[in-house]
This record gives sequence, structure tokens and C-alpha cells, in this order.
Amino acid sequence: MAIQIKDLRYVYLPKTPNANVALDGVTLTIPDNAFAAFIGRTGSGKTTLVQHLNALLIPTSGELEVDEFKIVSKKRKNKKIKELRKHLSLVFQFPEYQLFEETVEKDVAFGLKNFGVKNDEAIKLAHEALLSVGLDEKYFQKSPFELSGGERRRVAIAGILAINPDILVLDEPTAGLDVKGAKDVMSLVQKMHENGKTIIMVTHDMDLVMKYCNLVYVLKDGKLAYQGSTDKLFDQVGEDSAIEIPPLYQLAQKLKERGAPIQIENIKSVDDLINQVKGWKKRHE
Ligand SMILES: Nc1ncnc2c1ncn2[C@@H]1O[C@H](COP(=O)(O)OP(=O)(O)OP(=O)(O)O)[C@@H](O)[C@H]1O
Ligand SMILES: [Mg+2]
Repeated sequence: MAIQIKDLRYVYLPKTPNANVALDGVTLTIPDNAFAAFIGRTGSGKTTLVQHLNALLIPTSGELEVDEFKIVSKKRKNKKIKELRKHLSLVFQFPEYQLFEETVEKDVAFGLKNFGVKNDEAIKLAHEALLSVGLDEKYFQKSPFELSGGERRRVAIAGILAINPDILVLDEPTAGLDVKGAKDVMSLVQKMHENGKTIIMVTHDMDLVMKYCNLVYVLKDGKLAYQGSTDKLFDQVGEDSAIEIPPLYQLAQKLKERGAPIQIENIKSVDDLINQVKGWKKRHE
């Protein structure tokens, strides 16, 4: 069932001289177990769209269905918002700015307590979540403000993991992290996907899209410009200057065009491409 968005329109500051149409008639489906990416230029509406998924924003018109939850433009008609947010949780763009408790463990436990989990149990689950993002006991009692940006990002992600939602939405989870920090976050997200979670990620990093995602949605000026698999994204290049296919995948595509049986969706690294080419060469020897 998963997520269906129907004719979604969202206007910031409606009925004012500064009214801004951020989403304009977006219709799309995200299936269960997807690892989906939203891409597009800055200001194209990605954050606005994902903030509708847990009803942080309510459509100006149109509607959304997230499994059994329905989100419509009339605010008072939206029921069970708390349950929705337990089912689908959102990690904000720069979530580290939203840490505010005095210790790391309290920050991670905060969301759980909001969902009615008792303090001791919440702290226990917070510890498990922190360990799973690679932050051990040393961090539990620290103030979030003593941590580096990457560590804070992991605390924020632990806060969502502790809630254990079925669908995780991450708005630019690797922005501003160094190579290792980004890798750590992505292997964590990958693990969650392997554990059966649906992942929806906003990113500007095409390498991540090609490496991890099986579905991609391109937004352009508040409209959906493309939805489909990552390997068909090549046809979009040129039509949208926000999309630049990383060199590894350009090379793979060129080899494919020359007759090599390359499976772009299986390429995660240079070695993967080399192995596919080797297999092809061998068959020709
Ligand atoms: N709080 C707000 N008030 C008014 N306009 C806003 C607000 N937030 C976003 N907008 C406008 O809505 C449009 C879409 O913004 P949005 O933040 O969804 O873009 P984005 O694709 O996430 O961009 P980025 O890649 O920079 O994060 C932009 O034109 C932006 O200026
Ligand atoms: Mg954004």
C-alpha cells in the first residue's frame, strides 16, 4: 500500500503578496520497502513535500495517504497524527539544531516519552539506539552541545530509530558531513532498509542516489519531473541541470551502450563495475 500523493498543492503565505506556490499538482506513489530519493534543485519543493508525509504541513489542496493514514487539506479532518508520526518519522534537514535536552540519552528518549513510553524504558531504548549509531556509553551523559556536527547528526538519527517507525524520511542526511561521517550515516540507513524499513531520502548527492536508491523522484519548480528507477535517470540528464550523473555511472552507461551487459542498478563501487566488465570480457575470450 505505502504512500500515495494525489494532486498535492502547497502555497506558503497564501492570500498575501508573498504567496509562494511550493508544490503544484504533485501526484506520485512510493511502494512499500522502497529506498527512494527525492532530488531537484534547491527551492524545488523537496523539503516541503516530505514535511507533508507526517502532516507537519497540511496540503493547500490535494491529499496524501500513508498506509492507513489520510492527510487532507482540512486540518480538523486529520486524525491520528500521533500514530502517523510513529509509523513515519522524519529526520529534519540539519537535525542537530533541534537537540535541546541536557544529555544525549535524554534527547533520544524525548520522542519516546512523547509517545507515552515510561522513563526507564525510554532510557533503555535510547541506549540501544545510540549504540546502534555507533555512540557508546561515553556519550550517554554528555551534553549534545559538546559533540561534533556528525555526532549530533547521529544522536538525531538515534532519536528516530528509538521510535522504530516503519517508514523513515531523511531530509539531506549527509549534508555537511565529511566522507566518513556520510558513509557511516548511509550504512546505518542501508541497514535499516535491510531490516524492512521503507526509506525516503532527500539529497543533492547523485552518488548516493545511484548507490543506494532503487527509486527516484525529481522535483522541478514544485512539479514532479520524473519518477522511476535510477538507471532510467540517464534520459533525464540534459533536461534538468540539477541532475549530474557521477562519472562511474556515466562510464557504466557508455559501456552498456557499446554492448556490455552492464547492470547499472548493481553497481555500488568501482570494483563492482570492474567485476561486471571482467565477466563480460571472459565470455568473449
Ligand atoms: N517557511 C517558508 N515560507 C515561505 N516560503 C518558503 C518557506 N519554506 C520554503 N519556502 C519556499 O518554498 C519553495 C520550496 O522550498 P523547499 O524548502 O521545499 O525547497 P527544497 O527543494 O527543499 O530546497 P533545498 O534543496 O534548498 O533544501 C522555495 O521557493 C522556498 O523559497
Ligand atoms: Mg530542503
